[in-house]
Amino acid sequence: MTSRYRVEYALKTHRRDQLIEWIKGLLAVPFVLHSQPTTIYHEHSEGLKTAAADTHQRYAEIMRDVENLILDHIHHTRHNEPGKSKLKLLVPSIGTFFTRLYMEDAFKYQDAQRFISRRRFVAPSFNDIRLILNTAQVLALVRSSGVKLVTFDGDVTLYEDGACLTTDNPVISRILRLLQLGCKVGIVTAAGYSDAPKYYGRLQGLLDAVYDSPTLTPEQRQGLIVMGGESNFLFRFDQASKDRLAYVPRSEWLLDEMRAWHDDDITELLDIAESALRACAANLQLPAAVLRKDRAVGVYPLDGQKMHREQLEETVLVAHNTVERSAVGSRLPFCAFNGGNDVFVDIGDKSWGVRACQRYFGGISPSETLHVGDQFLSAGANDFKARLASATAWIASPAETVDLLDELEMAA
Ligand code: IMP
Ligand code: MG
Repeated sequence: MTSRYRVEYALKTHRRDQLIEWIKGLLAVPFVLHSQPTTIYHEHSEGLKTAAADTHQRYAEIMRDVENLILDHIHHTRHNEPGKSKLKLLVPSIGTFFTRLYMEDAFKYQDAQRFISRRRFVAPSFNDIRLILNTAQVLALVRSSGVKLVTFDGDVTLYEDGACLTTDNPVISRILRLLQLGCKVGIVTAAGYSDAPKYYGRLQGLLDAVYDSPTLTPEQRQGLIVMGGESNFLFRFDQASKDRLAYVPRSEWLLDEMRAWHDDDITELLDIAESALRACAANLQLPAAVLRKDRAVGVYPLDGQKMHREQLEETVLVAHNTVERSAVGSRLPFCAFNGGNDVFVDIGDKSWGVRACQRYFGGISPSETLHVGDQFLSAGANDFKARLASATAWIASPAETVDLLDELEMAA
């Protein structure tokens, strides 16, 4: 990397989603050309209504074009000719789509929720487009073979950062509904514990609801699993256990490639990550301690302290780059991420976690799987890797997860 590129990368690239930025740019043109900032606002103003209708139509047409570019990209990727994809030229960082995306219909749905095309001063935003993409993904899953597995991140996705899934959480009834429909559910979290009571503590509201449900069959209850430490510890729901979960030995679920993750390599990678984290903590005088675990190492704040964004981002980039440049870092998958008030380096990542869930349930395909998470930036974020294994939805709060699950039900 040249130093210029490196600075640009560290400053910007990993904090932007290239596809969303590009779509935002496309919509900015009709926004500028059609918006009527000087028209006097009046409830019954016909002029404004016509302008909004025009803008709606322009946005919808652009979304249809984007939808077709994605279809074209899928076609070329399937035929092993990614170089011929126009979308790849326009958005070089674009990855693989496991399904088409119904961008036009999704725009119409979100415009009816958010009145994007009626705005005269605020152009279509990152969040508008993120939500349109989520809806487009939900529609695609429902309109094809249906969703067979939904995997959820924990913090920020199911409950607030660092909190627990308590009985009053509205996501519980939605997850029960998924199980009732025969859909499998995996909680794929970075939170890495090797024993069930810790997960029971974090997920009690959901686990008790599944336990107490008068309608779920034993088979439907078996549709719930927890994958902890990204891809390291698997638990299945267990009605007979006081913690509601039973540990599943690795021999029963590891993917073939994961069997090649040797203990020596794991120790070596964590040693390198740990010394990078310690060096960073000393250098930035972080109010934090280092925690070494079986399959992870992290820095977490001392009691009552908070690390600020810059400290967290610097630490995660230092740890990521140090491990990436090591020999073991090229042999073994790892994930360095910013957990909001801590930084962890885990062995494996959520692509392996989601794949292991798919395989545990008998081989569910990526195009039948939806991973819901909040961390989709390309560096320092741990849900990003799930994009290699499944369709994804990028939410920004537990309330958005609930909305998304309601959309999924409505679309079905
Ligand atoms: P997630 O959002 O569900 O993936 O959870 C991430 C959070 O889990 C981190 O920010 C940490 O606070 C916490 N955590 C606990 N143990 C671990 C671990 O072993 N690795 C990574 N994160 C952990
Ligand atoms: Mg999260």
